[in-house]
Amino acid sequence: MKLAFIIDPITKLDPGHDSSVAMMESAQLLGHQVWITEASQLSIIKGKAWGYLQSVDLKPVKLIDGYWQAEADWYRVGNKVLTCLEEMDAVFMRTDPPVTVPYLYTTYILDLIDRSKTLVINSPHGLRTANEKMYALQFTSVIPETIVSQDKSVIAKFVQEKQSAVLKPLGGKGGEGILFLEAVDRNFNSLIEISTKQGSEPIMVQEYLPAAKEGDKRIILLDGEPIGAVNRVPSGNEFRGNMAVGGKAAKVDITDREREICAVVAPRLSADHLYFVGLDVIGGYLTEVNVTSPTGIREIDRLNNVSLGKQVIGWLENKLSN
Ligand SMILES: Nc1ncnc2c1ncn2[C@@H]1O[C@H](COP(=O)(O)OP(=O)(O)O)[C@@H](O)[C@H]1O
Ligand SMILES: [Mg+2]
Repeated sequence: MKLAFIIDPITKLDPGHDSSVAMMESAQLLGHQVWITEASQLSIIKGKAWGYLQSVDLKPVKLIDGYWQAEADWYRVGNKVLTCLEEMDAVFMRTDPPVTVPYLYTTYILDLIDRSKTLVINSPHGLRTANEKMYALQFTSVIPETIVSQDKSVIAKFVQEKQSAVLKPLGGKGGEGILFLEAVDRNFNSLIEISTKQGSEPIMVQEYLPAAKEGDKRIILLDGEPIGAVNRVPSGNEFRGNMAVGGKAAKVDITDREREICAVVAPRLSADHLYFVGLDVIGGYLTEVNVTSPTGIREIDRLNNVSLGKQVIGWLENKLSN
């Protein structure tokens, strides 16, 4: 297969952590051709999506003392070649959030790829549909009590009822801007004002789940099926579990309740052509549906001695041969 990955600059990727690198590496190991590009390198020409693609040759990371180690020169890229993306069998859209207006423009470029020729993972339509925070709100039976508002009185009433809550910007990632707020906080009003940018932007306000202390579980779904999970346990005084803020990756199983959550979400993901997705689950409640560039593969692989990257590429081989 010919595969293109739209990623952030490769110099910024962490080969021992980023799922994009894990998938590219697996594709290469399974004998496929891998190219990379960036959102800024895409164009529409005569009604088709084109991009400056560079072939990439990766030195696979190695597991040493329980952690992935990469060589300093872990990748080598070829020259940029302007290529019609329909020459690829699949295109992985893996740019990190936030979903900005230029990000949305990229999805419109990807709309011009003929689906019968090239599979886009995740579909540009799905990426526009699924705000990572708000997409979860349709699954009312499996989420904690949550509101979205920019109105201080609505937010204040909710937090006072719950006594403690978590404020979340709607476009954040990796724990950015996530605030813990108690009804008794002396900064109560000010924190709401800062978070909503003086009432000009809606935010998510969610009841605080004490189970977050035991971890925030990332469950990777491939075509709606859970294929692996990793727990992220907050470290020190930090209440957020994100690995980006020091959360420790820990081995974990997927519970029956979590399989139920996956089954509730799966039909919707399928309808929106969201094939590679990371659910965040705290204490048996769904808190986030990550669709842009979910991570977790490297941690699950090293903790469980598996290769989710190979599973993803194997699934793709299968899907495209049918
Ligand atoms: N309802 C909640 N109760 C307690 N902690 C939460 C809650 N929601 C999120 N958190 C904590 O905040 C972190 C980030 O939240 P999340 O909604 O996954 O946003 P993102 O990962 O995009 O920053 C989680 O890893 C978790 O530790
Ligand atoms: Mg999260």
